[in-house]
Amino acid sequence: MTLARVRREYRGQALLERRAPSSPLPLLQRWLRDALRRDFVEPNAMTLATVDALGRPRARMVLLKRADERGLTFYSNLRSAKARELAVRPHAALVLWWPELHRQVRVEGRVSLVSAAESDAYFATRPRGAQLGAWASPQSHVVPSRAVLERNLSAARARFEGGDVPRPPARAAHDRVLAGPPRPHARPAPLRAERQRLAACSTGAVRP
Ligand SMILES: Cc1cc2nc3c(=O)[nH]c(=O)nc-3n(C[C@H](O)[C@H](O)[C@H](O)COP(=O)(O)O)c2cc1C
Repeated sequence: MTLARVRREYRGQALLERRAPSSPLPLLQRWLRDALRRDFVEPNAMTLATVDALGRPRARMVLLKRADERGLTFYSNLRSAKARELAVRPHAALVLWWPELHRQVRVEGRVSLVSAAESDAYFATRPRGAQLGAWASPQSHVVPSRAVLERNLSAARARFEGGDVPRPPARAAHDRVLAGPPRPHARPAPLRAERQRLAACSTGAVRP
């Protein structure tokens, strides 16, 4: 395998600083809309990097569920490795990438929990299968066998048969927002900090 020879020439429209909006959020929202309009696989997937107590980084994919002036929201499980790491070191880095559009966005900042009510509201929108799965599957923990997962799932199905599936307590606090400073007039710090890079990183000369 000759990975060193794999190369792609990007010939797209560069994002010029003078055409970029004064805040990166509208640009990010526009790029998300562009990606959602296309038939991409998981257009809202992003890499989330956290660090453990010793400063060792760890990254994984999550799905972006909201992007507004409060920050970028993703949902997870509080017992997961990422949630435990964020509880100790509430800083994260995110990368979104749309290869077909030659665009990437990097965001870094503080992470905080969204409210329980918001978590409930989001959980209620999930398909029933995913809701039951949240009760059945312990994220980041080794499950002894598929049979154990199936058993957990059957137990969850039986438990909630004929009614709504509530949010599991462990999921409740797991939802997090990449937040800006609490001042309402301020632009989200992570996005503001990224503006320079955001403006340079779409097919332009500057390599992010
Ligand atoms: C495309 C994709 C999207 C994912 N979205 C999420 C998500 O939104 N939330 C989540 O907790 N895990 C998501 N996962 C699973 C995580 O990548 C990861 O395996 C899991 O959360 C455990 O991570 P941790 O042990 O580092 O906490 C996704 C995986 C993929 C491949």
